[in-house]
Amino acid sequence: MSQARAKVDMEKIVSLCRRRGFIFPSSEIYGGLSSCWDYGPLGVELKRNIKQAWWQTVVQEHDDMVGLDTSILMHPEVWKASGHLEGFSDPLVECKSCHLRWRADELEGDKCLSCGGELTEPRQFNLMFKTFMGPVEEEANTVYLRPETAQGMFVNFANVLDTTRKRLPFGIAQIGKSFRNEITTGNFIFRSREFEQMEIEFFVKPGTDKEWLDYWLEERLNWYVKLGIKKENLRLRQHTEGELAHYARDCYDIDYLFPMGWAELEGIANRGDFDLVQHSRFSGKNLTYFDEETKEHIIPYIIEPSAGVDRAALAFLCDAYDEEPDKDEIRVLLHLHPQLAPVKVAVLPLSRREKLVRVAKEIYSDLRQCFMAYYDDAQSIGRRYRRQDEIGTPLCITIDFQSLEDNEVTIRERDTMNQIRVPITELRATVAAKLGGESFATQSLWSAK
Ligand code: GAP
Repeated sequence: MSQARAKVDMEKIVSLCRRRGFIFPSSEIYGGLSSCWDYGPLGVELKRNIKQAWWQTVVQEHDDMVGLDTSILMHPEVWKASGHLEGFSDPLVECKSCHLRWRADELEGDKCLSCGGELTEPRQFNLMFKTFMGPVEEEANTVYLRPETAQGMFVNFANVLDTTRKRLPFGIAQIGKSFRNEITTGNFIFRSREFEQMEIEFFVKPGTDKEWLDYWLEERLNWYVKLGIKKENLRLRQHTEGELAHYARDCYDIDYLFPMGWAELEGIANRGDFDLVQHSRFSGKNLTYFDEETKEHIIPYIIEPSAGVDRAALAFLCDAYDEEPDKDEIRVLLHLHPQLAPVKVAVLPLSRREKLVRVAKEIYSDLRQCFMAYYDDAQSIGRRYRRQDEIGTPLCITIDFQSLEDNEVTIRERDTMNQIRVPITELRATVAAKLGGESFATQSLWSAK
């Protein structure tokens, strides 16, 4: 990771996530479990929205893409064929004094970072979690928790081809949990042992792989920008020869400027024919594609854009975080894209008087049918706005005494704090339009009359 630093500290993000219910340490009442995290009521919405936005872009809007949901446990031969049993390991050294373990390739000196003690020689440590299938714990029953979702898509290549009759180029997309027994974890949800991936395996004719790699580099970069990440906080970095994974002919990282520096957000690799050749060899099954034009059986090449849901969530949170002076206080806000915001609209009656509450509750139950909405009637309206700003809610609707007379309510926008007055009957449509990006020009509270 380079020395460049983002504007926001990780401590602020961790604290906001804990305080407002985005992310908690796993099993916290037992002291937590190292590098495992639980997504709270707001975090689960953010994560769902990220996955939904990805699925919509890469599957729904791509007629050359289909989805899959494959199992986490796979036949052990898969991991022999993929190279994970042999090669999915990091060099590990152990401190002879305090017995802490470190990744040898991440240490700068030859001493323990914690106590300065002498280190052992590096040995390879496989990152896959092992478990046993069935009641007998013996070597023959060993299975692994998948370290990537990719393999589920390679082994289903022929199934997808047979059942969908797709022609090259086409892709398979999948979202799911992956597990890696990482030696060094940390930086909050950046590197954990259980995480979620959003992966595409895009099958192309050999010879067209370079242009498809370029295509996906652009597509994936644009996806982050479209959802609000600042361009200057993203960069593309090509892997050096020595860095390339055993399966890759070429690979780029989309890096994000996280609080600890530039680091990988997503990897986009040209895997060539490695995976289909290997699985064909190990399974004995034919995984070729019949090219109608040349009348030849070929093995497609694969372009793989592989993103992490948790890393994307961290990047979106860091990028959205902002602080503004606000009288004697500081207004903390998340400029989350409306598509990603956990709550789209908050309904805030100015007081708890029965007449106001009745109207507010009716509005709330109506809006909930279309949008993730939140009802809040506790404390002053200013404090309620701040609470919503801090979790990134794009719109707040205030119901005041005037509403009882004119059947209109105020909509306030998070970023500009501009307000407009809207008839209750037009609320659903107006909220939908504003969330969809319609301009929020300032309007006097009274000008709509
Ligand atoms: N199938 C290719 C593959 O898995 P990778 O670069 O190892 O490639 C892809 O992982 C993405 O998965 C990364 O860019 C990152 O976003 C996410 N990822 C990988 N390891 C992770 C971890 N320990 N914690 C959180 N996210 C991780």
